[in-house]
Amino acid sequence: MNLSNRAKQAPASPIRRLIPFAEEAAKRGKKIYYLNIGQPDIPTPPVYFQYAEMYKPKVVAYTHSAGLLELREAFVTYYKNFELQLSPSEIIVTNGGSEAVLFAMAVVADPDDEILVLEPFYANYAGFAAQLGIKLVPVRTYPENGYVVPEKEAFLEKIGPRTKAVIFSNPCNPTGAVYDYQQLETIANVALEKNLFVISDEVYREFTFDGYKAISMMTFDKILDRTIVVDSISKRYSACGARIGTFVTKNKELYQAGLKLAQARLCPSMTSQYATIGLLTLGDDYTEQIRKEYQQRRDAVYEELKKIDQAVFKKPHGAFYVSVKLPIDSSENFVKFMLSEFDVDGKTTMVSPLDGFYVTPGAGLNEIRIAYVLNQDSLRDAVKILAQGLKAYVEKR
Ligand SMILES: Cc1ncc(COP(=O)(O)O)c(C=O)c1O
Repeated sequence: MNLSNRAKQAPASPIRRLIPFAEEAAKRGKKIYYLNIGQPDIPTPPVYFQYAEMYKPKVVAYTHSAGLLELREAFVTYYKNFELQLSPSEIIVTNGGSEAVLFAMAVVADPDDEILVLEPFYANYAGFAAQLGIKLVPVRTYPENGYVVPEKEAFLEKIGPRTKAVIFSNPCNPTGAVYDYQQLETIANVALEKNLFVISDEVYREFTFDGYKAISMMTFDKILDRTIVVDSISKRYSACGARIGTFVTKNKELYQAGLKLAQARLCPSMTSQYATIGLLTLGDDYTEQIRKEYQQRRDAVYEELKKIDQAVFKKPHGAFYVSVKLPIDSSENFVKFMLSEFDVDGKTTMVSPLDGFYVTPGAGLNEIRIAYVLNQDSLRDAVKILAQGLKAYVEKR
């Protein structure tokens, strides 16, 4: 029996595909610093569980497909803090930001249509595009200049008759770049000029450092009718397993289209929606405390990385990732080497090979992504081990 081409062509997650090597290493007693996956170690705020406990319905029922009205109202208040004026009828609560990305791609593009993507990009975009038969067309960014958004021409030369939209995350996973007003305006202008939709993934909105701010694409009035913001509580509140995100748009047609997809999957978890209302009562104090923690972690990783000769990167200003170019031939082989052949006193470090964050063939083979999701001491130790491993890997080749 034959599986669909879609099934055969869907890429495996570059973050998860090397886990068997980690499992094997752990079985042999190695301690592994997991810097490969964006799973924060920060405890989920207790208010999540308090609200889940408080709202004990007799029946765990379906909710409105757009999500509980109380939750959408709580999101309206949350977005107000960022000067985004929304109404509950402009928000669809989704099963994580992931489902919001899927819905956004699905409502703007048909099979064989194209979506421009700033590359390297959050790897699951490729998985969603494959599910929908959509082609991702890369607009490259580079480690040498901190992965900034390129000039308008770089977009224009990739646009064809089937280009429907542009997607990117800001702050960026995997690079940690935070795009400034001018860079975002380049994207807005391209979208306007070439009649494209904009899918702006803003799940790391709060995590910006050194005075940088994440500017929402919804603040560009001229593209408000063509913008979908994808959002999630996963990282913001260290609640990845809660599976709550949002699909936000002021365009009624896009909203209705998104809602039809939402209706087909009925609703997100009722319990988790109630619990998320609790999370949204947390104020600036909470976010500031978490932001500071990540900034200190970023500093720790940055200081250790700077000691590595030939590592090419710029200080990242947001999210909790840094992508780095190293003097290696295959980032996948390097990660395997770190897991299977290398340790310092029984300890090793796992990072993500960056090739899976590109669709350009051969790109990212000499880049890795580090997720700084551990405490500072562990991070320093982990990056020191990575540096020693790199030396051993380079000498061996
Ligand atoms: C940029 C970006 N978008 C979306 C997601 C999906 O998040 P979730 O589905 O957990 O909300 C992630 C998760 O890592 C991400 O990094």
